[in-house]
Amino acid sequence: MTPLRVALIGTGYMGKCHALAWNAVASVFGDVARPRLALLGEANDALAERRARELGFERWSGDWRRVVADPAVDVVSITTPNEFHFEMAIAALEAGKHVWCEKPMAPSLAEAEAMHKAWRASGKVAALGYNYIQNPMIRQIKATIADGTIGRVNHVRVEMDEDFMANAESPFGPRNAAASGYGALDDFGVHALSLLFTLFGHVRRVFADLAMPYPDRPASGGGRRAVENHDAATLLADVGDGVRAVVQLNRAAWGRKGRIAVQVFGAKGAITFDQERFNEAQLYVAEGPLAQQGFRTILAGPAHPPYDRFIPAPGHGLGFNDLKVIECRQLIARIAGEESVLIDFAEGLRIERAIHAAASSARQGRWVDVA
Ligand SMILES: NC(=O)c1ccc[n+]([C@@H]2O[C@H](COP(=O)([O-])OP(=O)(O)OC[C@H]3O[C@@H](n4cnc5c(N)ncnc54)[C@H](O)[C@@H]3O)[C@@H](O)[C@H]2O)c1
Repeated sequence: MTPLRVALIGTGYMGKCHALAWNAVASVFGDVARPRLALLGEANDALAERRARELGFERWSGDWRRVVADPAVDVVSITTPNEFHFEMAIAALEAGKHVWCEKPMAPSLAEAEAMHKAWRASGKVAALGYNYIQNPMIRQIKATIADGTIGRVNHVRVEMDEDFMANAESPFGPRNAAASGYGALDDFGVHALSLLFTLFGHVRRVFADLAMPYPDRPASGGGRRAVENHDAATLLADVGDGVRAVVQLNRAAWGRKGRIAVQVFGAKGAITFDQERFNEAQLYVAEGPLAQQGFRTILAGPAHPPYDRFIPAPGHGLGFNDLKVIECRQLIARIAGEESVLIDFAEGLRIERAIHAAASSARQGRWVDVA
């Protein structure tokens, strides 16, 4: 096995997460060549050098164009803010690199489509950072649906709530500007849709409502500035095969820190999950005496692969960063031409289309088909 030569652009929240994953993947899984952390890109040389030393990269650059063009790089992690993904991903693909780009693809549908086109032309692998689909408990939910334990699924609910916009008096920031996107709809909605897509397939049509709980916020120069996007969104989604979904998104939900609650209801039972209870799923099977029926907790353990690759003991728990290690292993498999669980630029574009269809639905007040 030839080690992959990795470049990373951006070393904030997600950049560190990618760096940890590239560092850990060979040790955790034991079946891949240890990637070489070849080159790190940041906004300037000094920051690039400091972060390269901290994260274990051999070389660094303050110029991302040099990073994507470097001949001694096979794959580029792109973990910069959304507005950079389009230019960086296309340049990396055109330079013959595989790409692992953070979600969402890009702020506009036209940019996402151009990224998809560049990927198709490249013959390379291009994957997106939809880490929540990698949770072993989500795999367990998928297996439980597939084996018929809860019967034919009829209704699904996905809620994603956090409270970083809950304070009405927190200042106007980049995420309140229209340039950053629709607000909760794309900020959170893409994750919710990645779970729907993974569990049930493509969303066929949507009906959306957007809400702006706080229409203005304190401006940095004094006074108040009008908020330009929506902190909450509700989507009805038709997922096909008779499955109807409700997706509720709120980044102004006091008390919720990282809730992604998935509830799947079938003809014979239900299975649920909440990201704030990361290592658990709740299963209800409608059988036996009614007086003894109730949800039971399934606690993550080695019976839920690839948990076993991290820890041999059940109930000790995986964490957020472990999802990226699993995603990284799936990416390496895809690069090797193997089947893997990953949202690539084709699936990613479908997610983007569903989001833009939802925005169009909210404007028109009617169902909109997802192209
Ligand atoms: N998958 C997830 O769960 C998840 C969670 C959070 C963020 N994200 C996504 O990750 C991406 C990054 O978000 P973040 O929260 O890590 O942001 P961040 O602000 O913490 O980090 C961004 C980094 O990019 C660097 N950067 C900015 N411009 C650059 C340039 N021109 N060249 C090189 N480096 C540059 C910054 O210096 C910074 O280190 C976004 O697309 C976001 O949507 C994904």
